[in-house]
Amino acid sequence: MALLLWLGVSLLASSQSSNVKNCHLGCRCEVENFGLFDSFSLTRVDCTGLGPGTTMPIPIPLDTAHLDLSSNAMGPLNDTMLAGPGYTTLVSLDLSSNHITKISPNALSKLRYLETLDLSHNVLESLSPSCFSGLPLAEVDLSHNNFQEFNMDVFTNKVNGEPVSIDLTHNILVSFSASLLGRVLHIQSLNLSANRLSSVPTLTGLSLRHLSLDGNPISHIKEGAFAQLKDLIYLSINGLPDLREIEPNSFKGLQSLQVLDLSNNPKLKTLSSVVFSGLDSLQELSLSGSGVVSLPNNMLTHLPSIKSIMLGDSIHCWRSQKQGQFHRQLGQLQRDEVLNCNVEGVVL
Ligand SMILES: *[C@@H]1O[C@H](CO)[C@@H](O)[C@H](O)[C@H]1NC(C)=O
Ligand SMILES: *[C@@H]1O[C@H](CO)[C@@H](O)[C@H](O)[C@H]1NC(C)=O
Repeated sequence: MALLLWLGVSLLASSQSSNVKNCHLGCRCEVENFGLFDSFSLTRVDCTGLGPGTTMPIPIPLDTAHLDLSSNAMGPLNDTMLAGPGYTTLVSLDLSSNHITKISPNALSKLRYLETLDLSHNVLESLSPSCFSGLPLAEVDLSHNNFQEFNMDVFTNKVNGEPVSIDLTHNILVSFSASLLGRVLHIQSLNLSANRLSSVPTLTGLSLRHLSLDGNPISHIKEGAFAQLKDLIYLSINGLPDLREIEPNSFKGLQSLQVLDLSNNPKLKTLSSVVFSGLDSLQELSLSGSGVVSLPNNMLTHLPSIKSIMLGDSIHCWRSQKQGQFHRQLGQLQRDEVLNCNVEGVVL
């Protein structure tokens, strides 16, 4: 019986490689079969680091789903470099580490089924407004580029019904605007880590669930900064060297937020309890490695769902039921719930 089960499972999920015809010299091509009786297959082609003088587009098998073209010194992308047979059906494409300075407006337009695009470790400073239009992109990595500015228009497209995730880490963005002209983007995940944003970008109209603003030179978070992001579940504002102030009601509107990471912000010294106003779903708050060393005792009145708060080096506070009168109670939450910490004197 167990053997039959194993056989069944392996028939459904087996993934095996076999030799591929027409694999370009220097590339590695692999066919992965899956489904009952291996009735489905997809081809993965790795053409990383082919060396100088490679002519683009590199020929690929017609049924290629995943293509890795990283480290090929491609330089500026023109309209023909990604327009060969087989490119139309690509689902994922890795163009990282290619000295890409520019992407011509139609360079990606043939990639009609592309969901994942890695453009990290290039030297892009801008993107033409239409460069991703019409692509069902679910994930874009623009980390480690030279962006000074970024406009949400590049992600606006017509056919999009898919959740979209954008990774913009390690860029040099100084501004980020979601000028959406009434169009709603289905972006779920936006990573703007390690850019040069000096304020929280306006992200109106995005149905984001994950947002990271780590490592940006933001010094001040203003009231209502996240007001439009009612679907956000995870917000990371970690490692901001200049962050000094978070105004009361800064997080107002984040009604779905479950995790708030405010750790490693050394210049953030105080937080009034009203800062947390509106965070009705917040379960985890991290202030570890920040300048905040104590918690206002009424802060839990604003955080009805909180389960865990991290503070300082290794201070951990958690919400619990009142446990008899010998137990020191810190910060009365509700009648029978208290905030306990592993260190005394944290809750004022
Ligand atoms: C694109 O660039 C390649 C290589 O630099 C070149 O051979 C080709 O002619 C260019 N195509 C266009 C349309 O400019
Ligand atoms: C954003 O990118 C940074 C750097 O690549 C990474 O450490 C972090 O986990 C990412 N955050 C999210 C929410 O994906």
